[in-house]
Amino acid sequence: MSRATPVTRRVLAVASECAPIIKTGGLADVVGALPSAMKTQGWTLRTLIPGYRAVMAAVKRPKSVLEIPDLLGLPARVLAANLAGLDLLILDAPTLFDRAGSPYLDAEGNDWSDNDLRFAALNKAAALIAAEGVQGWCPDVVHLHDWQAGLTPIYMAATGATQPTILTIHNIAFHGLTAYNRLKDLELPEDEFTIDGFEYYGHISALKAGLTRATALTTVSPTYAHELTTAEFGMGLEGVIRTRSRDLSGILNGIDTSVWNPASDPSIKPFSTPAGKAANARALRAEFGLATGSGPLCVVVSRLSDQKGLDLLLQALPALIGSGGQLALLGSGDRKLENAWLNAAAAHPGQVGVRIGYDEALSHRLYAGADAVLVPSRFEPCGLTQLYALRYGALPVVARTGGLADTVIHANAAAIMAGCATGLTHETGSVPALANALQTLCDLYRDKPVYQRLQRNAMKQPVGWEASAPLYAALYAKFAQTPEDTE
Ligand code: ADP
Ligand code: GLC
Repeated sequence: MSRATPVTRRVLAVASECAPIIKTGGLADVVGALPSAMKTQGWTLRTLIPGYRAVMAAVKRPKSVLEIPDLLGLPARVLAANLAGLDLLILDAPTLFDRAGSPYLDAEGNDWSDNDLRFAALNKAAALIAAEGVQGWCPDVVHLHDWQAGLTPIYMAATGATQPTILTIHNIAFHGLTAYNRLKDLELPEDEFTIDGFEYYGHISALKAGLTRATALTTVSPTYAHELTTAEFGMGLEGVIRTRSRDLSGILNGIDTSVWNPASDPSIKPFSTPAGKAANARALRAEFGLATGSGPLCVVVSRLSDQKGLDLLLQALPALIGSGGQLALLGSGDRKLENAWLNAAAAHPGQVGVRIGYDEALSHRLYAGADAVLVPSRFEPCGLTQLYALRYGALPVVARTGGLADTVIHANAAAIMAGCATGLTHETGSVPALANALQTLCDLYRDKPVYQRLQRNAMKQPVGWEASAPLYAALYAKFAQTPEDTE
């Protein structure tokens, strides 16, 4: 009898960020976690990302695997590198990516004016890799993430690459729009500039290109998959989504439970029971200048943008403080919100502490010290901070929307008695509902045995990739033309 021959199933992932190498939000966490999650399912992923300055600095011995003398008019090459256990392909195009600032914004917080070209180049490079392969490696499936990868199917058609493409929508708010007169510079086909192609109200939309041309679509939670078909959440693309609803599935994000493990996290005082959080809470209160409190220590770790509803939380703050709660917030983004939060901290010394900035290690300390993590988002495709909260025994208090609704079990009397409650959910976008949830949290907190039971439930909830990795594997397998395992 011959031995089983393992068949390598290969995926090229295309994304604008990938943790821990380059991160501005949850997209990076997911792109960074998927390779090891999918390995358990027999799929190997190579991830193509832009060679931003920070990425190039992390690559020790760059190895060119594809020279592209003319990538949308610019010289470029693709490097292969193994970083933090990730098999990366890096688009080295210094004119586009070797600059200070974030992946998307300049130092003043404005979008780079050539973002269309930067990510179109990434997409064209992906198409060339799919068509020609690198180092004898050719993908069976191409997995695209958000608008920054949306044009890939168009370039694949032009290069003759025929692999199936899967587009994951992490956030439909970002359409990747650019002016019609950029068609030539981006080498896009005029005949696809139609309502059924990538035309969006007279503009080019990279996201719409992916939505109309990818073989299959996914988004990051089942509830958001449904919400996307509605005018309230589809952000103008609900019609397109509806035409493709048979090809769309909602697959819940997981988190990397080896990186996010309270028992071994090097950034915190490790713990494996709710009681073990006390030392972290003490340290956190000291770090944020908060008084010793008798109510719950709530935290927020977030981009400060309209999506996250933190203006609503500002309005509900008196309910929290009035009931004995405290708040530590780490965030950055919208300048007005940053200032409003700094003012709130000044108005409530010892009760509200605010850090403006982006700090990965501090985020771990916040989850570790928190009694509760607040996520009052107006919409939330999945949300990861509530998952980190669960894992670190902090009760999530979340708006009942998108992935938040799919991951938190509301602590009503029945769920508490049944032993399955893990947090609190409230009506989305409502200050009175949020204020009410914060009061309920403070009441619950006074009943220590009940609160600790909820924390234990939270810590037990599976938040890794065990349920979702097989769903992605099934989707890859459905479309990939790979030979079956042979005996
Ligand atoms: P989104 O991707 O919409 O920003 P998610 O909840 O999916 O929201 O993911 C946010 C990720 O970014 C989490 O890993 C969170 O801890 C992290 N994060 C957000 N803001 C900050 C910050 N200021 N400092 C450190 N980490 C942050
Ligand atoms: C987006 C969404 C967030 C989601 C993340 C990862 O940034 O806003 O809800 O968790 O992508 O999928």
